[in-house]
Amino acid sequence: MIRGTQMNARFSDKSVLVAGGTGGLGHAVSLAFLEEGAKVAVTYREQKGFDVLKNAARANTSSLQGHKLDVTDEAAVKQLVERIFTEQQRLDVVVNTVGGYVGGVKLWELEPKAFDQMLALNLRSGYLIARAVVPAMLKQRGGAIVNIASKAAVDHAAGAAAYAAAKAAAVAMIDSLAADLKGTGVRANSILPSIIDTEVNRKAMPNVDFAQWPKPEDIARVVLFLCSDDAKLIHGAAIPVYGDT
Ligand SMILES: NC(=O)c1ccc[n+]([C@@H]2O[C@H](COP(=O)([O-])OP(=O)(O)OC[C@H]3O[C@@H](n4cnc5c(N)ncnc54)[C@H](OP(=O)(O)O)[C@@H]3O)[C@@H](O)[C@H]2O)c1
Repeated sequence: MIRGTQMNARFSDKSVLVAGGTGGLGHAVSLAFLEEGAKVAVTYREQKGFDVLKNAARANTSSLQGHKLDVTDEAAVKQLVERIFTEQQRLDVVVNTVGGYVGGVKLWELEPKAFDQMLALNLRSGYLIARAVVPAMLKQRGGAIVNIASKAAVDHAAGAAAYAAAKAAAVAMIDSLAADLKGTGVRANSILPSIIDTEVNRKAMPNVDFAQWPKPEDIARVVLFLCSDDAKLIHGAAIPVYGDT
């Protein structure tokens, strides 16, 4: 959709950060915000993902900024948020779609390095992002934070102990953060996807019927709703987005 002709521009000129904005879900979330008029900054590690996103953004490319950094690095996250505030003067929305999955391994067989990586990608990322953005959001007296957790946070299948533990902890962290933020105008919520219909999942599970899997674009709609004024009463929620799965 071309800027200026948006039928539904709830985020016109809002400043949005999508951590992991080039991933299977992040890509769709970033495009959805751009289509509704937002200025979007995304984080990524691989340049290729950002090039694909930039290409897909078409007429909205000038509203898209990419930042190559590791969101588990405290100094890098702080520096990025400071840069966004210097350039945009505000940050209205932060969506953390960074995560990682190690599964199919029993807990006692899981390498400590993989365990630490699950905590870093699925828990520490959200902590560092909240730590960097909340003080500034409090100053501007408003903001919306959405952290992408997983169905695994509440449905603890075999072979996914570290991932489930990290996602469950992330939901608890955001719930407690929401309690900290009551009455401030800054809202924080979690989203719990089941298996998403991404390219990576299709490749990993080629024999599964993926027609039922929730599409990234449909989850993006839920994310945008949560970040919009229509959701001003929703704070400290963990929203399942399982579709028919
Ligand atoms: N896919 C699913 O079926 C599913 C199901 C339930 C929950 N979830 C959760 O939903 C979220 C999105 O999943 P997804 O499938 O879209 O993931 P994804 O495709 O792996 O995308 C992750 C994104 O985060 C970026 N990223 C990863 N580590 C980073 C780091 N340390 N610093 C900065 N950026 C980093 C990646 O960039 P690069 O690609 O450049 O590395 C990519 O943009 C995750 O939290 C995931 O756990 C996914």
